Amino acid sequence: MLRPATVDDVPLLTHWDQQPHVIAATGDDPGADWSAEIAEAEGDDVVQHLIAEEAGRPIGVVQIIDPARERTHYWGECEPDLRAIDIWIGEAADLGRGHGTTMMRLALDRCFAPGEVRAVVIDPLASNTGARRFYARLGFAEVGPRRFGTDDCVVYRLDRSTWEAGGTRT
Ligand SMILES: CC(C)(COP(=O)(O)OP(=O)(O)OC[C@H]1O[C@@H](n2cnc3c(N)ncnc32)[C@H](O)[C@@H]1OP(=O)(O)O)[C@@H](O)C(=O)NCCC(=O)NCCS
Repeated sequence: MLRPATVDDVPLLTHWDQQPHVIAATGDDPGADWSAEIAEAEGDDVVQHLIAEEAGRPIGVVQIIDPARERTHYWGECEPDLRAIDIWIGEAADLGRGHGTTMMRLALDRCFAPGEVRAVVIDPLASNTGARRFYARLGFAEVGPRRFGTDDCVVYRLDRSTWEAGGTRT
């Protein structure tokens, strides 16, 4: 299940940020100030920080962002009614066991719940071949390369019609 992150999760989120597999996927992003980010996200739907739990144990994070309205304009000028996702598993021991697939399916259900949302976008580092394969298997189409800051990324997009056609719905 996915639940909203709270300030009680800050120590765990900070610990996960220090894991080598998380750092490797992060590029030039400075570490998050989780207390501030969680406080800022409270009470609006522009950024959602969600903790994935399995049998009550936190295993990872999903962030769902409205890229057109998000404060830093990370995605630049972009069309309305999109969602952007970030996802990571916290502990290396939990990688490659199907948790990410379950988390993405739950996250996509949330993204597309508002009927106006047209597509979900995602921006793995070009070098993150494992994550790119993971998104492709979930039905995401490769849009093309894009540089965010100093990071060479590849943008992927899942349109509502593809999601509705099945395969990625829970
Ligand atoms: C990407 C990620 C969320 C996928 O979750 P997961 O639970 O490992 O994935 P699943 O078990 O559901 O699916 C396995 C697939 O995930 C992909 N994968 C990506 N990174 C992986 C890793 N470090 N270890 C194992 N599988 C990985 C592979 O495509 C794998 O399929 P394969 O058998 O074809 O190699 C997770 O691996 C992760 O947190 N990676 C580090 C952070 C990251 O890269 N986040 C994405 C940033 S855009």
